Amino acid sequence: MSEPTTNVTETTGSNQGQEAWEPRIIAIICNWCTYTGADLAGTSRMAYPPYVRVIKIPCTGRFDPLFMLKAFERGADGVLVSGCHPGDCHYTAGNYNARRKYTVFRDLLDMMGIDLERVWFSWISASEGGKWVETIKNFTEVIRAKGPFTEYREMIDVG
Ligand code: FES
Repeated sequence: MSEPTTNVTETTGSNQGQEAWEPRIIAIICNWCTYTGADLAGTSRMAYPPYVRVIKIPCTGRFDPLFMLKAFERGADGVLVSGCHPGDCHYTAGNYNARRKYTVFRDLLDMMGIDLERVWFSWISASEGGKWVETIKNFTEVIRAKGPFTEYREMIDVG
């Protein structure tokens, strides 16, 4: 697995003495394509923001929308789901199933207070280390601009 770059966050002014907020991103990624692409980014020494925590699953077909809810409940500010390109799934149709599951649950997640702009899907192959890096950079910027996702945690009262 690749090593993300580390940034030292400085605290100044009113933030002094407090820990500065940084995005917390959970990436749920398939073993065969996106994980290998992320690994390629690391072995190619490509730098990307260090705010992503990877959960490797065998295939995005194993993805369950409850994983997202649990991630947000535990403090995630954004969730990325990524796997093989359509037609390239190693289990034939797992990525199609993941997309269908998300399509079905999307309205329910919205109704439950999940900000859907904090959820990204992408298809990244084993040879697309650069796409992994760009995706993480872009998603990190979106989440940074949106700020911490406290609304959901406040709503379900987990702090
Ligand atoms: Fe990668 Fe199915 S094996 S999405």
